[in-house]
Amino acid sequence: MTQTDIHNCDVLVIGSGAAGLTLALSLANAARVTVLSKGTLTSGSTWHAQGGIAAVLDTEDSIESHVADTLAAGGGLCHPDVVEFTVKNSKAAIDWLVDLGVDFTRSEGSEEFHLTREGGHSHRRIIHSADATGKAVHTTLLEKAQSNPNITLLEHMIALDLIRQPDPQSRKLRCVGAYVFNRNLDKVECFTAKAVILATGGASKVYLYSSNPDSASGDGIAMAWRAGCRVANMEFNQFHPTCLYHPSAKSFLITEALRGEGAILKLPGGERFMPKFHELAELAPRDVVARAIDHEMKRLGSQFVHLDISHKPKEFIIQHFPTVYENCLKYGIDICTQPIPVVPAAHYTCGGVVVNTNGETDLKNLYAIGETSFTGLHGANRMASNSLLECIVFAQSAAQTILTTLPDTAPPAAPKSWDESRVTDSDEDVVISHNWDELRRFMWDYVGIVRTHKRLERAKHRIELLQQEIHEYYSNYKVSSDLIELRNLAMVAELIIRSAMQRKESRGLHYSLDYPDTSNLAIDTILVPGNFADQNIVVSH
Ligand code: FAD
Ligand code: SIN
Repeated sequence: MTQTDIHNCDVLVIGSGAAGLTLALSLANAARVTVLSKGTLTSGSTWHAQGGIAAVLDTEDSIESHVADTLAAGGGLCHPDVVEFTVKNSKAAIDWLVDLGVDFTRSEGSEEFHLTREGGHSHRRIIHSADATGKAVHTTLLEKAQSNPNITLLEHMIALDLIRQPDPQSRKLRCVGAYVFNRNLDKVECFTAKAVILATGGASKVYLYSSNPDSASGDGIAMAWRAGCRVANMEFNQFHPTCLYHPSAKSFLITEALRGEGAILKLPGGERFMPKFHELAELAPRDVVARAIDHEMKRLGSQFVHLDISHKPKEFIIQHFPTVYENCLKYGIDICTQPIPVVPAAHYTCGGVVVNTNGETDLKNLYAIGETSFTGLHGANRMASNSLLECIVFAQSAAQTILTTLPDTAPPAAPKSWDESRVTDSDEDVVISHNWDELRRFMWDYVGIVRTHKRLERAKHRIELLQQEIHEYYSNYKVSSDLIELRNLAMVAELIIRSAMQRKESRGLHYSLDYPDTSNLAIDTILVPGNFADQNIVVSH
C-alpha cells in the first residue's frame, strides 16, 4: 500500500444515518471528522423512517409513562437504567433537532407540535414530519454536516474490517481505523483515526422480505464481532406488521401511525381480527400484531391481510399520510377508498454490538451507536419510534466521551498494508448472488416470526456450509461490495441462529413452538467471540 492510500482524521464515523451524522455534528467544533457511507449519503434506513420519534413532550405525558411503556413492550429484557437515561434525554434530543431546523408537523391552527400514537404507547408522544420523518431529519442533518468545514463526507466507501493496534500505554488492543473498499476506484484504502464509530445501521436484509434499504447488511455488527467485541440479543429481529403487499412494490412500509390514527386490520373477507389477540387490538406491541397476522395468513392460506383507513375523511388521510397515499396510488390502491394489502417484513435489529451508555464497545476507542448497537433499551421487542430517539441520544453521549478522551489518545502507528498479492479477480460472481439468495430465503423460512428447534438446526447446518464457501471465496478472490456484504450477512445470520438456539423460551420477538412459555428469569443472550460456550447473562434488575 502506498502512502496515498492512507487517510488520517481525528474521528472516523462509519455510516451517515441519524446516528453517524448526529455524532459528527456534535464533535465538529473540536475535531476533524470523516463520515463514510457505503452508498449515497441517504442510503440508510433513516431516510425511510415514517412514523416519527418518541419523546415526552406533552404536559399530560410523563417520563415514568414512556419508561413503563418501553419496559412493557420489551418483554422483561429492557435495562431499566438505560430506558430511563434515554427517555430523560428525549426532550433535549428533540429540542436539538428543532434548533437545527427540522420541520416537524404542527397541530392544525396551532404552533404546538402534532403528536401521533403508535403501538405500545399509552400517550400521544410521537413527534413527526407528516409520514416522512426520516427524510425531514436526515435532510437537515446532512445540510448541516455538508456546510461544516470540519466534516468530510465520503460516499461509496464500504468499510470491510477494523484495524487494531496495541495501545502504547496499556499494551491492550485498541481500534485505530478501518480498511475501506473504495467502490469508485475499485481498491482498498486505509482510514486511521483516534476514535472509530460504527453507525452502520441494522441487519434486516438477512431476511428475504424486509422494509429496509439494501444497506442493512449488518456490516458494523460483523466487523465488531471479528474485532473481538461481544454482541447481544441477536435473536430479537423485529418484523413490522404492515408492509405493502404488491408484486412490484419493493419493501414499502405502511407506517404504524395509520393504526395510531384509527386504521383497522381486516381479513381478506373484511372481518376485523386483532381484538381476539390483544386488548389493545391494532395498537398492541408489534410482536403481537405481526404474529397475529402471520397466524391468520397461515390459517387462511392467504398472501396478505388488509389495513383499512378508508373510514377517515379523505383530507385527513392525505394531510397526515401523503407519502403512503401517493405510493399506494402508484400501485393502483387509493387508500381513501380501498383497504391496503399488507404483510409483515423484517424491520429492525434489536440486538447488536454491546455498548455502555457512552456508546463504548469492548475494544478501546471503538464506539457503536444507532441500530448497530445493543444498548439495552429495546429488550425483546423495540417499541415504535424509540429507535431514532436512541440514535440521537447515544450519538450525543458518545460524542461527549470522545471529546474528553481525544486529547490523551496517541495517534495511530502506520497500519499494515492491505495484501492482495495472493488473490485474483473472480470469474464466477454467480456464486455470490446464489449464496445471497439462498441465505435470505432460509433465514425467512427457518428463522422467521415463528421458530422451532428443528428449523433452527436446519438453518445452522446451511449457514455452516455457506460460511465455508464464502470464506474460501473471500480468501482467493479480490473483494467487491457484494462479497463484503455477503460475508457480513452470513456472519450476522450465524449470530442470529446461535442466539435463537440458546433461548429456550418464547419472549417478545422470539417465538418458538417448542418452548412456548416465558421463563421467570429475564436473560440477555451475550455472544463472546472465540468462546464457543456462549454466555447468558442475567440483566441487572
Ligand atoms: P442508518 O440510517 O441505517 O444508516 C446506516 C449508514 O451506514 C448508511 O449511511 C450506510 O450506507 C452506512 N453503512 C452501512 N454499512 C457500511 C459500511 N460497511 N461501510 C460504510 N458505510 C456503511 N424508527 C423510528 O424511531 N421511527 C420511525 O418512524 C421509523 N420508521 C422506519 C421506517 C422504515 C421503512 C425503516 C426501514 C426503519 C424505520 N425506523 C424508524 C427505524 C430507524 O429508521 C432506524 O433504526 C434508524 O434510522 C437507524 O439509523 P442509523 O443511523 O443507526 O443507521
Ligand atoms: C412506522 O412508522 O411504522 C415505523 C416506526 C418505527 O419503526 O419505529
